[in-house]
Amino acid sequence: MSFDVTAFRAHFPSLDSGLAFFDGPGGTQTPRPVAEAIMATMTSPISNRGTVSATELRAGQVVADFRAAYADLLGVPADGIVHGRSATQLTYDFSRHLAKTWRPGDEIVVSRLDHDSNIRPWLQAATAAGVTVRWLEIDPATTELILPDSFSERTRLVAVTAASNVLGTVPPIRRIADLAHAAGALLYVDGVHYAAHRFVDVPALGADLFVCSPYKFFGPHCGVLAADPALLASLWPDKLIPSSDAVPERFEFGTLPYEQLAGATAAVSFLAASSPASQSSSPSSSFSSRRAGLERSFQAVHAHESMLRARVESGLGAFAVHSVAADRTPTLLVSLDGRDARDIQKFLAARDVLAPAGSFYAHEPFEALQLPNPSLRIGLAAYNTVGEVDRLLDGLSASVA
Ligand SMILES: Cc1ncc(COP(=O)(O)O)c(C=O)c1O
Repeated sequence: MSFDVTAFRAHFPSLDSGLAFFDGPGGTQTPRPVAEAIMATMTSPISNRGTVSATELRAGQVVADFRAAYADLLGVPADGIVHGRSATQLTYDFSRHLAKTWRPGDEIVVSRLDHDSNIRPWLQAATAAGVTVRWLEIDPATTELILPDSFSERTRLVAVTAASNVLGTVPPIRRIADLAHAAGALLYVDGVHYAAHRFVDVPALGADLFVCSPYKFFGPHCGVLAADPALLASLWPDKLIPSSDAVPERFEFGTLPYEQLAGATAAVSFLAASSPASQSSSPSSSFSSRRAGLERSFQAVHAHESMLRARVESGLGAFAVHSVAADRTPTLLVSLDGRDARDIQKFLAARDVLAPAGSFYAHEPFEALQLPNPSLRIGLAAYNTVGEVDRLLDGLSASVA
């Protein structure tokens, strides 16, 4: 059964605006169940977490539900889920926690393909710890990462993206994990763009730490880190004395935003209930059925987005397409010789078609590949339609004329 995009779109009040959103890689629109969960949590009787009143227990339940939802989404145990303000903040935090164990002469590996949030925190931590930095470079012909036969045995950490937020390139994470583990290193994976388009299985990917951002897949603005609880138990953050020493609580600083956690949970349940087999049923919260629903949904969404991507690609005419990797997400970076991409963005916006121009924090890939800066990013999401793609293509060809 194919993905019912009309039924899916009906959950998004903002889509009634008539705007066509091709800016999903920067953040998706919000479906009603997510907004309602935030509203319900903020307006129900609730206190800070505790063990006495129903209001304290409710706050605890919100946190437990959040961990269970992201355990289902990412395929790890619930106590391996850490909430953060953003993926960037979590990566900064974990770069500091991990760097405590590094010694001068150790090495880390970062990739030229990454968003700066999975590069700069590691470089800064490496400088502070006197650690050598090695780079995985991009093959300019394929936009794929060039992998070594092995990493040095001094390697402590490899940090790499599971999908580029500008080119869409999907590197072979399992292979990189095997190389990292053979050298005795940990693998830190930026799954922010990947998790918006692919069903995630963190243990199967071989990621030791995996970070994603619910606002890229219909949730509120926050970050989520997934790891084996045993690995988390081996790490000690700098923390307040009275705050919990337990895993994963010890990595979450200050009072949690319960309403945001409830919204993030609702995003996972919403996605799980969007699969063809369950589109008409209500969201389920049991582990196996929600994870199975997520797998079905991601399969259906993948087919829908691939069909749209092929349609976009066949109509780009005079535009240079920089996204060429064999395995990639439905995100296309394009430019037009002699034209500033911001003018094209404005031209499209005047037609209610939103595709942003910029370099999107992908500082290293833009430098390494000398990509035109700004370029136009066309990001497809599950709620996009064939009609919207045709409006985009009409706008792009009118912008050339
Ligand atoms: C691939 C990728 N990594 C990291 C980030 C940063 O995520 P956050 O805004 O949650 O810090 C983004 C944001 O666009 C991204 O696309």
